[in-house]
Amino acid sequence: MALLSVKDLTVKFAMREQSVTALDGISFDLAKGERLGIVGESGAGKSITGFSLMKLISKPGFIDRGQIQFDGRDIAKMDEPALRDIRGNHMAMIFQDPMVTLNPVLTIGEQMVETLRAHRKLSLEEAEQIAIVKLREVYIPSPEERLRQYPHELSGGMRQRIIIAIALLLEPKLIIADEPTTALDVTIQADIMDLMLELCQTNKVSLILITHDLGVVNQMTERTLVMYAGRIIESGRTREIINDPQHPYTQGLINALPQQTLPGQPLKQIPGSMPSLTNIPTGCAFHPRCAYATSRCKTEIPRTLRFGAVEVACHEVERLKAGQGKAGTGQPAANGNASANGDTSAYDEASTYDEASANGSGS
Ligand SMILES: Nc1ncnc2c1ncn2[C@@H]1O[C@H](COP(=O)(O)OP(=O)(O)OP(=O)(O)O)[C@@H](O)[C@H]1O
Ligand code: SF4
Ligand SMILES: [Mg+2]
Repeated sequence: MALLSVKDLTVKFAMREQSVTALDGISFDLAKGERLGIVGESGAGKSITGFSLMKLISKPGFIDRGQIQFDGRDIAKMDEPALRDIRGNHMAMIFQDPMVTLNPVLTIGEQMVETLRAHRKLSLEEAEQIAIVKLREVYIPSPEERLRQYPHELSGGMRQRIIIAIALLLEPKLIIADEPTTALDVTIQADIMDLMLELCQTNKVSLILITHDLGVVNQMTERTLVMYAGRIIESGRTREIINDPQHPYTQGLINALPQQTLPGQPLKQIPGSMPSLTNIPTGCAFHPRCAYATSRCKTEIPRTLRFGAVEVACHEVERLKAGQGKAGTGQPAANGNASANGDTSAYDEASTYDEASANGSGS
């Protein structure tokens, strides 16, 4: 059984006149110990997904429908006391900026001990001993001294290590990390990612890693969800998503990577930008930016279909995989859109069209 099973999760924000949809029926599973990446441009709905999983969506946001089954219990239906238990003991979240999570007026020791004693019956000394062990696990030198220090006395990298130690304090089954290294120097980013990978593997903790960095996803995760305008548009094994992206948006993200461009050449950016929630295009939300868009794309939301081990929501991919089209050409439709990307290699190999799983069945 999956540790986490999300079905048809829909999150809205109540605006003055109408509500807008931030997550539109997303579905996915996460196995125990599995590491899953969530990628997409800014505004895709990655953080809203992370917050929703812990039911941390605050007004005017609300979960409109769907299930978040975690260890057999539906988080979407839980009351606050049950949620506090889940958030403390079973799930932990790591954010981009450690200073948001750490309390500036408490020492590191006070914060760690407080977290432990809020959830476990421990003496002060016992809690301090556990805190010291956890700080050692994240390679903090002289942990006894660090316990007496305030967050501002430590470097950014050290603070993020401490956040990871706090996340691990209660031995959660799932860590949701939202851009955990974006605020750090590039040299420290790799160290923190290595540390998270090691700790997840050693402790058999599942990880949901939210990031815009496909390189990080490649290094850290086994499976990836690609999000666009509040929907999952492609999901599958990370290696396949990176090496053989199917959806035109995923192809655009991969083509935009600096390593896909020769020195001195401009980056191959996807034209246009992510729509705002008040202005999500009809049909496939990506159609104004897609070089393959047809009239159908403008009116009909593509179903999520499974092709082998990947799930894709795209009319053009469906057409090509079903063998109705001319697989291998991948020529953009003559719709007047700017070319999203020049690389059509993901269409060259026709995989078997083996299962139609409307609206995503998870993998
Ligand atoms: N409190 C809010 N009220 C209204 N809209 C919101 C609110 N919070 C987020 N949104 C909108 O929801 C959409 C998804 O936001 P989200 O923060 O999940 O994006 P993201 O993929 O995490 O982007 P980024 O990479 O910039 O962090 C965006 O259009 C954002 O403007
Ligand atoms: S071909 Fe159509 S359905 Fe596919 S991504 Fe482009 S606009 Fe969306
Ligand atoms: Mg975000």
